[in-house]
Amino acid sequence: MPSIKELKQYLETLQNLGIKELYAEAGATPGSTAREEDYSNLDNESHLALLEAKYANCTKCTLAAGRIKFVYGDGNPEAKVMIIGEAPGEQENLMGKPFVGKAGELLDRMIAAIHLDRETVYIANIVKCRPPGNRDPQPEERIACLPYLVEQISIVKPKIILMMGLVAAQTLLATNQSLGNLRQKVHFFEGIPSYVSYHPAALLRNPNWKLPAWEDLKLFYQHYLNLI
Ligand code: URA
Ligand code: SF4
Repeated sequence: MPSIKELKQYLETLQNLGIKELYAEAGATPGSTAREEDYSNLDNESHLALLEAKYANCTKCTLAAGRIKFVYGDGNPEAKVMIIGEAPGEQENLMGKPFVGKAGELLDRMIAAIHLDRETVYIANIVKCRPPGNRDPQPEERIACLPYLVEQISIVKPKIILMMGLVAAQTLLATNQSLGNLRQKVHFFEGIPSYVSYHPAALLRNPNWKLPAWEDLKLFYQHYLNLI
């Protein structure tokens, strides 16, 4: 299994390749070469819908075996805010949408507290298919699926990103630092200011983290207000 160090090297390679090559990477499913397709005239909504349909039967990693529905993303294709979670859970696998279970209900309340909602943000996960028993997605699964998310980010072009939980943060920031070290400061993903906070599922298990999570949301919101 690739280590976090190898994942980091892979991510650096992806970054060095730039967005154009990531399109090709994300489209590297059998029978398709993204390079041959011209999406430049599409608006974000149509572009994302087309890609969602194109990747829905992906078999690039073993998580495909547990897939009922492919969970690509949801929300405003022109969003200024992008929220990134970990992986679909049971409800998401059934519905084909991110954050629709218990953790999703809490996420809705969290973003409502900073005057945001599902119509203003775009939400996606690190991996698009449900890991068995909700285990963490493994490094090779994250590596296989990441080009899809990087491509979504390059289309939506959010002004700010909120990473929910350690899997999202460690994968996108290519680090193995703890959540305690990553929260309460600004990071940059492809130049986009990014914040890290507790995953809502973790908050459901540990209500003691709700207060620090609120501090994170306030910091994020302050930065967001400065951008708009
Ligand atoms: N947890 C996540 O990280 N993502 C979802 O879509 C649902 C639960
Ligand atoms: Fe493909 Fe991602 Fe699903 Fe793995 S998790 S099969 S890479 S869509």
